[in-house]
Formats: sequence, C-alpha cells, structure tokens
Amino acid sequence: MARWTHWAPWSALAVAALVAATVSWSHAVEQPLEQGETRDVDWLAVLVGPSMGTLEPCGCAGGMLGGIDRLATAISVYRSSRSAPSLTVGAGGQLSPEAIESGVLDWQRAQLEAQYMAYDELQLDALVVSSHELALPIEIFDGTRQSYLARTPLVASNLFDGEGAPLLAPLVHQAKTGVTVLGFPKAPAQLGEGREMLEPKDALARLGELGLDLGAPGRRIVLVEGDAERAKAVGELFAPGDLVAHFGERADASATAAPLGEGAPYGGFLGARLRHVVSLRASGDNRLWEKHPVAAELIADERLVPYRGYYREFLSAYDVVAQVGDTKGPHPRGAYAGSASCQACHTDAHAIWSEGQHPHGLLTLQEDLRGGAAALVDPDCVRCHSVGFGYETGFASKAVADPMRLDPKGPLGGIGCESCHGPAAQHVVTGLAEHVQRSNAATCMQCHDVDNDPNFDFERKWPLIVHDNP
Ligand code: HEC
Ligand code: HEC
Ligand code: HEC
Ligand code: HEC
Repeated sequence: MARWTHWAPWSALAVAALVAATVSWSHAVEQPLEQGETRDVDWLAVLVGPSMGTLEPCGCAGGMLGGIDRLATAISVYRSSRSAPSLTVGAGGQLSPEAIESGVLDWQRAQLEAQYMAYDELQLDALVVSSHELALPIEIFDGTRQSYLARTPLVASNLFDGEGAPLLAPLVHQAKTGVTVLGFPKAPAQLGEGREMLEPKDALARLGELGLDLGAPGRRIVLVEGDAERAKAVGELFAPGDLVAHFGERADASATAAPLGEGAPYGGFLGARLRHVVSLRASGDNRLWEKHPVAAELIADERLVPYRGYYREFLSAYDVVAQVGDTKGPHPRGAYAGSASCQACHTDAHAIWSEGQHPHGLLTLQEDLRGGAAALVDPDCVRCHSVGFGYETGFASKAVADPMRLDPKGPLGGIGCESCHGPAAQHVVTGLAEHVQRSNAATCMQCHDVDNDPNFDFERKWPLIVHDNP
C-alpha cells in the first residue's frame, strides 16, 4: 500500500460512530468571525476552485481576474498572512466545457497535462478529482497523473478499484493543522472497468471498514462536486465546524459560507477559472470563509509561466485548432461563404467593416505571444476571433481550401460578416433576404460577454461599426 504513504497513518474509527456523533456535536455554537476581525487563528486553509481549462485570463479586456501565475502569489499571500499552520486544497475540473464538448482528446490532454504540472508546482496539499478527469480514457488519466502530479495527492473518497481498495487517495491528513481533506467527485457517464464509485455514505463506511481515520470532527474539509443539494446531503455525514464546499459550475465563488442546516457543517461554493481563492480561518469553534480576487495587481509568480507556454506548444504540436475545425458538423442554416463574397453587392457595408477592428481578430491572436507561442493555436480563443469555427465550412474546416483554411488573413479569419449575420452562402447566390439573418445586440453579446468585455454597451459600440447602407 505504498501509494497511501502521503496520508497515513490512520487509526480505526467506525463510520457508525462518525454519523452518530454528528448529533451530539450539534450543540457546538458557530459564531463566524467578522470580516477583518483578528482573533487568534488556529489554522487556515486556502481553497482553489476548478480551473476549467483556464490557465490565464484571455486578455480581451483590461483588469481581468485569474491566471495560474497570480494564483500562486495569492496562495502564498493568504497562507502567510497569519502565522498559523496552513494548507492549500484544490478542486478538480481541469478541462474546459468547450474541450469536453468538442470530444478532441488532444485538447483535453493538453489541458490536463499543463494544469497537473502547474498544480504540482503550486504544491497543493490535496487535489480533489472531478468526474471530468475520470471520464477521460483511463490511460490518459493515469499516465498524466502519474507523470505530472508526483507531489500532489489526488483525492477521491468514494472511488474504489475492483478489489474494493481506494483507487486514489481516499483522504489526506495534514499533521501540522490536524485537518483532514475528503472529496466526493460525481460519477462520470462511463466509469471504466475496474472502478467502482460508492454513495458518499457507503464510501465512508467502506473507508471505516478499511480502518482509516476519517479525521477529527470540526477539522475536516470536504469538497463535493455538484450542486448545493448534493453538498447538503454529504453534509449530513459530517459535523459542525467541518467545511463542505461544493464546486463544478462556471460561476464565481460564493461570498460567504453558511451552515447547511441545524447542527450541520458549513457550506459554500468554490468558484471556477481561478478568478478567486477562498480562505478559511479557524479559531476555536469559529470559522470564517473569505473570497479574494486573483487580481491583475498581484505580481505573477515566474515559476508558473512556462506551463502556459507548454499548453500552447502542445496545442500547436497536435494541430488542435485544425482538429476542432469540423467537430460541430454543418451549420443548420447552411454554409459559410466568407466576407469577401459580400463585397460586390454590399460595397459600403464591406468598406465600413474593413476599417474596423473586427477583421483583425485573428491577427490579434497571432500577436499574443504570452508564454512563448501564439494564442492562434488555442481553440478557446479562435472560437470568438474567427468566423464559424467548429462548423463544417467555417474557419479551420477541412471543407475550406488550403491555404485559406487556417489563414488569419483569409476570408474566414477575424470577425466577419457571417459572425453576426450567420452562414450566407445561399444568400450570396440568391440575394434573397430570407437566406440571411439580421443581427442585433444579442449577437454582439455572444462574444462581448460578461467575461470578455464586461462593460460592453450596445448603444455606445454599435455606432462605431454601423453599416446601415448596403
Ligand atoms: C467569448 C468570446 C471570446 C473569447 C473566448 C476570447 N475572446 Fe478575445 N476578445 C473578445 C472580445 C469581444 C474582444 C473585444 C473586447 C473589447 O471590445 O473591449 C476581445 C479582445 C481581445 C484582445 C484585445 C484586442 C485589442 O485590440 O485590444 C486580445 C489580446 C484577446 N481578445 C485575446 C484573446 C485570447 C488570447 C483568447 C483565448 C485565451 C481570447 N481572446 C478568447 C472575445 C473573446
Ligand atoms: C448577389 C448580391 C449579394 C451578395 C453577394 C450578398 N448579398 Fe446580401 N443582400 C443582397 C440583396 C439584393 C439584399 C436585399 C434583399 C431584400 O431586401 O429583399 C441583401 C440583403 C442583405 C441583408 C439584409 C437582410 C434583411 O433581412 O433585410 C443582410 C444582413 C445581408 N444581405 C448580408 C449579406 C452577407 C453577410 C453577404 C456575404 C456573405 C451578402 N449579403 C452577400 C444581395 C447580396
Ligand atoms: C459585429 C456584427 C456585424 C458584422 C461583423 C457585420 N454586420 Fe451587418 N449588421 C449588423 C447589425 C447589428 C445590423 C443592424 C441590424 C440588422 O439590420 O440586421 C447590420 C445590418 C446589415 C445590413 C442591413 C442594412 C439595412 O439596413 O438594410 C446589411 C446588408 C449588412 N449588415 C451586411 C453586412 C456585411 C456585408 C458585413 C461584412 C462586410 C456585415 N454586415 C458585418 C451586425 C454586423
Ligand atoms: C464573433 C465574436 C464577436 C461578435 C459577434 C461581435 N464582436 Fe465585436 N469584437 C470581437 C473581438 C474578438 C474584438 C477584438 C478584435 C481585435 O482587436 O482583435 C471585437 C471588437 C469590437 C470593437 C472594437 C473595440 C471596441 O470595443 O471599441 C467594437 C466597436 C465592437 N467589437 C462592436 C461589436 C458590436 C456592436 C457587435 C454586435 C453588433 C459585435 N462587436 C459583435 C468579437 C465579436
């Protein structure tokens, strides 16, 4: 059982005792510390939500939150802000929803490898796995974690192998804080052979039978993948003073944590994409949850910068943009024609568009060399900076003739007419209004969204590109 050495030793504690004890602990009175209050701190934890494929903010607008290099600084700032023993716990969910949806395994592998390497550099005390990593082909998941997460225990308290032994770290005890970390990923659609996922209650019973120490009541951090409902259900298995935080949605962390019920542990939501870290301060029976932005002002930790480059190099080496090119199939409204084909009939509109910034969208990515390689190789950037990416006949589709197919200056490079009016190949032939879409503010907001352009105002921006005359 050498692979358990990170989190040994344990003594026997039956899970029945754990559950029964919940009742008698319920008298413990929780008085959260006020913000800024400085009572003595016994221990503290820094919690990091899922990155969802985002190692860095896109840089589309100024002052964006996030970035793995600034996260590293944030962690050390909050860990050392008190002279109390501390630990850092991360939540799984290293793949972006777009990478998962595309089904392109090289993209998913690029994200997992770069982020496992970076997370190992962060020296997390525990990383709870999520259903998305578990959904990867077993050889990719196992190969990546074994190669790149050498120092970081990967936790799943409810995942067992064919013989009933924990498949990953069932839990992590950290001696200096006395804190125990447990984690409950959701089951992926396909769990894979030789793996068994138990309900949290049954899993704790199994761990108890195996003789594992499930940690001291009030000193446990439990990460639950899923919604508040699931966190609440898992919370019933734990004690007041324990923290049961949930994760997995693409939202920001909750500002506060609250008891999940009477005599129940605290609960809170860990936000995604490294935009915030949460610190948990423990002082006697008191717990304080605070959400801190991973702000643009934080100095980047240089040790983490190479992993961004690694990610882009990987995407480039495996031609991932080209692989994603046709994954959505044909667009329901037909084929793309490219902006050049509109010029003959819509001369004025074309001239106005040409003078704006939209046509240069992909050149912007070509010039973005953060980490060493151009952002042009990152499908998650290309998606908003080109025409019809992912669809057959859109940018990078095999249906488009080379060299135009991947040319940032080609007819589908940048934000073209059809980014806003939809695929219009048929309209180019017929000139009929019914074969093309009009556009409006909602179209703009598909790209100028709350993340990428938080202050977008249609009334102010539309006049800059208005082309009312055909
Ligand atoms: C959801 C759509 C979307 C995605 C995804 C996206 N961008 Fe952008 N990007 C935009 C929009 C919209 C703007 C223009 C913002 C504005 O007008 O202030 C922009 C602007 C930019 C700019 C600034 C251009 C300038 O001239 O100031 C850069 C650089 C950039 N994006 C890089 C990236 C990178 C790198 C990625 C991938 C990591 C990315 N973008 C992903 C929508 C997106
Ligand atoms: C052969 C000439 C021709 C070409 C090429 C052409 N259009 Fe048009 N387009 C027209 C005509 C004519 C109308 C007016 C249709 C009407 O009002 O019935 C029109 C109307 C439109 C409209 C307004 C539709 C509406 O509901 O009123 C949009 C948007 C449009 N075109 C976009 C495009 C785009 C984008 C392209 C290139 C992909 C393009 N057109 C290429 C001839 C053309
Ligand atoms: C950034 C989004 C965007 C881009 C890019 C864009 N348009 Fe438009 N277009 C609009 C919006 C919004 C309107 C106004 C609402 C409408 O009529 O659909 C419009 C209106 C039009 C109209 C109708 C004008 C009228 O009043 O009859 C035509 C024709 C048109 N665009 C053609 C083009 C062509 C050709 C291109 C490329 C050279 C292009 N547009 C690029 C968003 C866009
Ligand atoms: C397909 C994604 C996409 C759509 C849809 C889109 N934009 Fe953009 N927009 C971008 C990107 C990306 C940039 C930055 C281009 C660059 O500089 O590389 C941008 C830049 C701009 C700019 C110049 C920078 C600035 O903020 O002044 C304006 C203006 C603008 N967009 C207005 C609009 C309006 C209005 C609409 C809707 C009618 C719209 N955009 C729809 C992606 C989009």
